[in-house]
Amino acid sequence: MRRIALKLAPGVETEFVDRDRALAQVVEWAEKSTRFPVVIFGPEGCGKSAFLRQAAEALGEFGYDVVYVDAAHRDFVAYTDVAEVARRLLDAASDVSGLAQLKLAYLAVDLAKELLERWGRRRVAVLVDEVFQAVGLDKAGIYVKSLLNLIEYPPRSYEGIVAVVATSEGLTRAEIGRHRWAELTPMWNMPREGLQQLYEKLPGLKPPFEEAWRWTGGNPEMLARLYKAGWDVEEVVLHLMQNKKLSAEFARRWRRWLELAVEDPDALWAGDVPEELVRELEARNLVVYNMYDRRPSFWVDRPPPERDLELGIGRNVAWQTPLHREAVRRALRET
Ligand SMILES: Nc1ncnc2c1ncn2[C@@H]1O[C@H](COP(=O)(O)OP(=O)(O)OP(=O)(O)O)[C@@H](O)[C@H]1O
Ligand SMILES: [Mg+2]
Repeated sequence: MRRIALKLAPGVETEFVDRDRALAQVVEWAEKSTRFPVVIFGPEGCGKSAFLRQAAEALGEFGYDVVYVDAAHRDFVAYTDVAEVARRLLDAASDVSGLAQLKLAYLAVDLAKELLERWGRRRVAVLVDEVFQAVGLDKAGIYVKSLLNLIEYPPRSYEGIVAVVATSEGLTRAEIGRHRWAELTPMWNMPREGLQQLYEKLPGLKPPFEEAWRWTGGNPEMLARLYKAGWDVEEVVLHLMQNKKLSAEFARRWRRWLELAVEDPDALWAGDVPEELVRELEARNLVVYNMYDRRPSFWVDRPPPERDLELGIGRNVAWQTPLHREAVRRALRET
């Protein structure tokens, strides 16, 4: 399987590394089809998009006609010899009426259908990234249902259909989880060896790997941010505080819970935790709430450890990365 090229940071190119188990899962999808649309969620920057792009490449090698759409970034990749597919994707992506994202999201499903029906393709994969913001969170369920329809009532007989969605939108999980239309599948940050491979690619003076591991918890985006900040942890933390709007008011309001949660995120799992706080932490992509059973079949790639308080991982709730936790800790300290 060819490993695609990716950009980790300005001037730092890498091929897709690690994630061997995830790639084996793609092979399984190619062979057996996805019974339900697979909806992948996980910490921001953990590598969902990179994986989807690598999966698109792999499925292409398996003889699939593949449509990959990244709605939020108006980007797409098509592996097919039907020229019209790329042309229509390009049309949608260059739409200037402000509807490009929405158009791309729905076009992906339409094209998959047409590849089966009009062009008689027998193996079709549709991979969609960050579509839920585009179609609206309240329509996330319906969107996934349209993918399920494709699998369950295809316009023609087929050999394989693969439908995968990735989202970093914490709140869509609840909307999709209400229906039994999808296989909600979490993906975690990279395992240690994977992160180390990326760390080795970064040029210049750098702190020992152990430190990079402890701050990022395996999150490649956070690794890149540390690198770009000249390994100034404080700078990255202050940026996170800003991005996540960790105001003094927020810290004051929820101090009692947050102080417990920075020590052990499972404190947020207790029955008396205000729902509003949980929703806020999810919406801001600070924690992943309700971590699944660690049985590997529930996860894309390898599941995280059962509990690792140093990395901020609890059995049921986890900080997205140690840096996310540190931003909250800092907000508490400053208030
Ligand atoms: N397996 C990998 N090999 C090499 N680089 C990777 C890998 N996974 C992720 N990256 C790089 O790490 C960065 C973050 O990954 P990516 O954008 O895929 O994460 P994401 O989970 O989609 O994030 P977001 O939540 O922001 O959508 C990117 O620069 C990406 O190229
Ligand atoms: Mg992404």
